[in-house]
Amino acid sequence: MALLFITITMNFQLQTKGCVGCVETERMGLLQLKSYLNSLLIPKGEIFLKSWSHDDRSGDCCHWERVKCSDASLGGNIVHLSLNLLQIQSLNLSLLHSFPQLETLDFSSNWCNHLFDPIHGYKSLERLEKLRTLDFSGNRFNNSALPFLSAAMSLRTLNLGSNELKGVFPPNGLVFPSSLQVLNLRRNQLSSTPKGYSEICRLKYLQELDLGSNVLTSMPYCLSNLTRLRTLDLSGNQLNENLSSFVFGLPPALEYLSLLDNNFNGSFSFNSLSNHTRLTVFKLSSKVGMIQPQSETSLVPLFQLKMLTLHNFSLGNTIHGFLVHQHDLIFIDISYSQLTGAFPAWVLQNNTRLQTILLNNNLLTELQLPKIVHGLQVFDISSNRIHDSIQEDIGLVFPKLRYMNFSSNYFHGTLPSSMGMMKSLLMLDMSFNGLSGLLPKTFLSSCYSLKFLKLSNNQLKGEIFPEYADLTSLAWLALDGNNFSESLGEGLLKSKNLTLLDISDNNVSGSLPLWIDRMSSLEYLYMRGNQLNGHFPRQLQNLKLKVIDISHNSFFGSLPRNVEFPILRELRLQNNEFIGSIPDALFEAELLEVIDMRNNNFSDMVLNNVAKASNLGVLLLRSNSFETHIPEKLCQLSDVGILDLSQNRFKGVIPSCFSEMSFGAKKYDSNMSFDPVEGFSQVSFSQSWSYTSAINLDDDFGYGAQRTPAIIVDFLTKRRYEAYQGDILRYMYGLDLSSNQLSGEIPVEIGSLQNIVSLNLSSNYLTGSIPDSISKLKDLGSLDLSNNKLDGNIPPVLADLNNLGFFNVSYNNLSGEIPIKGHLLTFPERSYIGNAHLCGLPTNKSCNPASVPEPSGSKQAKEEEEEGDDVIDMVWFYWTCGAVYITTTLALSAILCVDSRWSREWFYQVDPLVRSFARK
Ligand SMILES: *[C@@H]1O[C@H](CO)[C@@H](O)[C@H](O)[C@H]1NC(C)=O
Ligand SMILES: *[C@@H]1O[C@H](CO)[C@@H](O)[C@H](O)[C@H]1NC(C)=O
Ligand SMILES: *[C@@H]1O[C@H](CO)[C@@H](O)[C@H](O)[C@H]1NC(C)=O
Ligand SMILES: *[C@@H]1O[C@H](CO)[C@@H](O)[C@H](O)[C@H]1NC(C)=O
Ligand SMILES: *[C@@H]1O[C@H](CO)[C@@H](O)[C@H](O)[C@H]1NC(C)=O
Ligand SMILES: *[C@@H]1O[C@H](CO)[C@@H](O)[C@H](O)[C@H]1NC(C)=O
Ligand SMILES: *[C@@H]1O[C@H](CO)[C@@H](O)[C@H](O)[C@H]1NC(C)=O
Repeated sequence: MALLFITITMNFQLQTKGCVGCVETERMGLLQLKSYLNSLLIPKGEIFLKSWSHDDRSGDCCHWERVKCSDASLGGNIVHLSLNLLQIQSLNLSLLHSFPQLETLDFSSNWCNHLFDPIHGYKSLERLEKLRTLDFSGNRFNNSALPFLSAAMSLRTLNLGSNELKGVFPPNGLVFPSSLQVLNLRRNQLSSTPKGYSEICRLKYLQELDLGSNVLTSMPYCLSNLTRLRTLDLSGNQLNENLSSFVFGLPPALEYLSLLDNNFNGSFSFNSLSNHTRLTVFKLSSKVGMIQPQSETSLVPLFQLKMLTLHNFSLGNTIHGFLVHQHDLIFIDISYSQLTGAFPAWVLQNNTRLQTILLNNNLLTELQLPKIVHGLQVFDISSNRIHDSIQEDIGLVFPKLRYMNFSSNYFHGTLPSSMGMMKSLLMLDMSFNGLSGLLPKTFLSSCYSLKFLKLSNNQLKGEIFPEYADLTSLAWLALDGNNFSESLGEGLLKSKNLTLLDISDNNVSGSLPLWIDRMSSLEYLYMRGNQLNGHFPRQLQNLKLKVIDISHNSFFGSLPRNVEFPILRELRLQNNEFIGSIPDALFEAELLEVIDMRNNNFSDMVLNNVAKASNLGVLLLRSNSFETHIPEKLCQLSDVGILDLSQNRFKGVIPSCFSEMSFGAKKYDSNMSFDPVEGFSQVSFSQSWSYTSAINLDDDFGYGAQRTPAIIVDFLTKRRYEAYQGDILRYMYGLDLSSNQLSGEIPVEIGSLQNIVSLNLSSNYLTGSIPDSISKLKDLGSLDLSNNKLDGNIPPVLADLNNLGFFNVSYNNLSGEIPIKGHLLTFPERSYIGNAHLCGLPTNKSCNPASVPEPSGSKQAKEEEEEGDDVIDMVWFYWTCGAVYITTTLALSAILCVDSRWSREWFYQVDPLVRSFARK
């Protein structure tokens, strides 16, 4: 059963399925099963046991969860046994012989890798003569399990998806029962056979075949002879044949054909499908290049599609063709396909039952709406080049719209007030356009279903939100990068469930209203880059905030001494005018991961009690007015990976205890989750039509799951590196103490910061020599010791630092020959100048004592050099972050939105749960 779209709320409520009219079954079998489960499953099989203990009429297993019995009046017996999700690592098949009437065995998702039968051997399943359905998906069986399965000769349905089968398809050693109707081998590592007779040729009754996510390179031989095959999923393989001849070889009765994510190249003609009269679902995309549509004759295809997915087609304006003859479509996804010209409104006009149209990432330039009222629910034309205003009557045309994504186009003008008629609108993304003007009153007061509203990066203005606003369901609101002004309006209070509020980069002014502490659901507050002022808004302490970003405003005064943010993770106060001391309480907050207070006038740090379990990973205090010693207590913040104390007037020595801080030695929990996702995963869109299949087709993950995270990713990644440190800190480690008044020697212990990537101690009064121990910092990419009073030689061992991309020791009192070998070869003269007694390449001063020493640079030059270096170092630093940022972004997108293996696996894991337990 494949529902097209399901909700992915993880709802594990157990329902004891009533088992009417159960009778005593074979005692022996039950007791065995019971003790077997007892011995194996009690620690992990809680789900099973819960309902069991509920209803433990000893022996009457028909009352058990996961067991179904046949009709009592016929002398009932166990016919259906589910032993899934119990983490049974090995299965003794002998046990099953106590259930001779078994028709269905669901042994999915157990992570099992060992099948055995000490009594009956490979032949054991042969004795279960009534066994029709065997679900072994989601285990770790390799080909050694196949001989057991070959004995199950009465099977109709065999599911071996997500196992570790290797070799060719069909797997050697697997003898299929000729009665097989459904075969699922998805997510294994099966490859193509050379042409020739194969097992599969015998399967005259096969109706459904899922070979998705394997490594096939050509179509399995004999497929075209399977005249009853109606479902075929070959997505996620490496098929690279000539598409036209490939399609020609497809079996004739196909209804569902997925060729997504293969290596097809070259051209494709829909005419080649025209004889597949029953085709209703068609999906095609290529991973390796664009597919060219072939010019088509006026042949009228014999099929009427309900669902069409095409990616990576270079369509241009040729979307016409076969599509003109379709009028039953429910779902269209033609994205990443270079579609040009006007939005094809005729598709909507022709297909009045259409519910979803996704034309994102094309080259459309105009949006003309159909001249009818249409029941469309999901509409995505994001990332095109549409240069229009939004048609005034859009709310009349699409009154049932639930998801609307027009982001990243060139829409201008105002948001039409007719949008107030979209009472079902759940999610609206209009970000990155040129919209201007006020938000229409009808919109703000009538779209009460709206949960996610993103209007970032437009030129919208007015108040956020005036009192008439009534968006009661709103959970996410992103209005950043607009011209909203005035102070916040009380209309926001109507959105009682608001979790995330982002009004960064607007012109909101004044102090934060007191009533903000009544927004009790608020967890993420971004207000960066406005004209807010006043003292630190104490009322925020009454909220359960995880992120506070009020950076780049004009807040002033000192922080309240007893700030209390028990669950705060990020505190961003940089670029304000705060003074005084950084309160103790912040260092006691155990969940805080990021403190950014750069560019303020803080002058003191109270560090009485540092949280034992501090999670602080990023502490940025650059450019404040500290004049103290660096407090040794700081070293107790042992998780810190990025510490920036530069451009202050810290004095005294560098505490040697810095070596106790992590700077990457401690790996961060990978469970630092992107919480906002939680909210989003609740949104999904159900279609009224679904393709019915015994195979759990990928469609199950539907729109809600695959699409919405893209928005989250965008939400989370659009910011600059600062905003990203929260995550970067897992990859990027650095210590910046530059431009202070630190004196004394560089502590030898610095050599224990083994994972540090950037070290900047420049522009201080450091003396002594460069410790050899720096050569132990194997990951060091940037080392700046310039503008100090260091003397002695440059330790030759520094040549071992293979990752060094920036190196500067200029303007010290270093002497001797530059150890010009290894990686040190790559740095220019400016890395070394201003050291009167340094000689050898790349300086032009010979180490031959006979040559005349050159005068060192003037003060003026030194000043310039200093600035230059600083810039370079920071550029390098940020660049590194940028690289990490990109990686992170990619990783994230890959995880969350791209159709990646990971996401499939994840959803795959979720899916069985949903199917097993949310079934009502
Ligand atoms: C497997 O089950 C059979 C029948 O219940 C039993 O006799 C045998 O001892 C079991 N073997 C193992 C290794 O558990
Ligand atoms: C297959 O799995 C069995 C049981 O776990 C194991 O003993 C065997 O080594 C595996 N064979 C291969 C080729 O991985
Ligand atoms: C497949 O069908 C073709 C045409 O009907 C026939 O010639 C061929 O022998 C069949 N192949 C097998 C392996 O049955
Ligand atoms: C693909 O196959 C079709 C039909 O068999 C043929 O006309 C076309 O030339 C082939 N294209 C390539 C690139 O081989
Ligand atoms: C479709 O069937 C007609 C009539 O049998 C045949 O002439 C034509 O070649 C077939 N087209 C394709 C693409 O198989
Ligand atoms: C679909 O629209 C096109 C363009 O308006 C028209 O030519 C065609 O006849 C329509 N098809 C159907 C099935 O209504
Ligand atoms: C707010 O959230 C709660 C809990 O999730 C929910 O029960 C309630 O219906 C929501 N309120 C609105 C107006 O959406």
